[in-house]
Amino acid sequence: MLLLSIESSCDDSSLALTEIESRKLILHKKISQEAQHARYGGVVPELASRLHAVDLPRLLESAQPHFDEISAVAVTNEPGLAVTLNEGVMMAKAFAAFQGVPLIPVHHLKGHIYSLFIEKPTRLPMLVVLISGGHTMVLRVQGLEDMEILATSMDDSVGESYDKVAKMMGLGYPGGPIVEALAREGDPTGFKLPVPLRNSPLIAFSLSGLKNAVRLTIEKLGGPEAMSEEDRRDLAAAFQRTTIDHLKQKIRKILAREPIPDVALVGGASANLAIRSAFEALCADYGKRLHTAPLEFCADNAAMIGRYGIDALEAGLSCDPQEIRVSANRKLQAGMKL
Ligand code: KG4
Ligand code: ZN
Repeated sequence: MLLLSIESSCDDSSLALTEIESRKLILHKKISQEAQHARYGGVVPELASRLHAVDLPRLLESAQPHFDEISAVAVTNEPGLAVTLNEGVMMAKAFAAFQGVPLIPVHHLKGHIYSLFIEKPTRLPMLVVLISGGHTMVLRVQGLEDMEILATSMDDSVGESYDKVAKMMGLGYPGGPIVEALAREGDPTGFKLPVPLRNSPLIAFSLSGLKNAVRLTIEKLGGPEAMSEEDRRDLAAAFQRTTIDHLKQKIRKILAREPIPDVALVGGASANLAIRSAFEALCADYGKRLHTAPLEFCADNAAMIGRYGIDALEAGLSCDPQEIRVSANRKLQAGMKL
């Protein structure tokens, strides 16, 4: 039997079919809206929702040969953009009600954590560093419903700050891969940027000050058009180096005190190879093992939603299709459970 999963929390329409018993991925499709949002320099919620309304039914059609084998549906219902979450939830709800199968609401961030277990057995507990476009946090994950936030960003997330830096330099969207590619060619010592919260005992993240420092540097250089290729590369490299130093400085304190030996890096920005290799070294310092998801499952996708959905189904966490609610954003803070 198969589980159908649907993801539409932001600008990716995605659908997957996973074999429940073996956790094998049977079908995985994703239509990214990046190109449509690129000219606005970021995601436009109403446009995203209209595109989901067209793309999700197309994706569902591709699963039609398997409809009879589907015995459960999982869908992202929080957090994200309310108007886009609604598109996926409406389709999942209609399908589950019509087929008479259980519906499983999935927290998007729990989905990112379960990207680690796609086509694999679940392996917990883990200390998880989640870096995406919407969130930056460290969690102690001990079970499906036992995920405690240990530290979080006070302002921008890692992915968001890459996107903003790319925008300020007049580059495209999403900024993560663009800034990473530029940084690879640059000299991180070319510009001096302040490491956020360096002298603070707080175990938290803050990236808006760093973003402002990048903005001031660009202004001093005469604006994005006046910057040379070398300036761009060096500034991207300095920004990336400073971001990594900040993450490492704070996460070090958590690794030193938490006995769990397995550490994971997940979320869209975990596709960044410089961040990955910095974390490999950091974990090695503390005798911990680093786990990451395959690159194709770092960014938003329905496979991770399905993988969480299967464990949730087996734990009896489904709901009445009429009862499912969309919850766009609630403030997530250290000490809270996901
Ligand atoms: O997890 P995700 O697909 O969506 C959210 O749940 O937010 O993450 C998207 C974010 C974007 O901000 C994107 O710029 C960032 O992940 N990202 C990266 C890289 N690839 C994607 N950030 C840094 N380096 C990358 N290579
Ligand atoms: Zn995401």
